[in-house]
Amino acid sequence: MSHAPDACYQVRVEPAGLAFDAEGALTVLEAAEMGRVELPSSCRNGTCRTCLCQLREGQVSYTVEWPGLSAEEKAQGWILPCVAVAESNLVLEQPAARAT
Ligand code: FES
Repeated sequence: MSHAPDACYQVRVEPAGLAFDAEGALTVLEAAEMGRVELPSSCRNGTCRTCLCQLREGQVSYTVEWPGLSAEEKAQGWILPCVAVAESNLVLEQPAARAT
């Protein structure tokens, strides 16, 4: 699936019910920060797994070829928001998320 640079999707973060817009080619983590939602992060390049969270609904693509996730983890719905780009509206599960 190719990413449309002018796309804008809605992202919801449960269980707090926080919401932000994911625009263009921003990563989910960058979009969250612009939308005043803080998600856990550290390396921001897909290796440390600090940002690891569950994707409940929607599709993402990755800005790096090998995000630090196994195929099994991907199949179980784990994503790394620091290197993930929204390809649809998303629902994430991240209990540590908070509004800034
Ligand atoms: S912040 Fe390190 S993997 Fe996402």
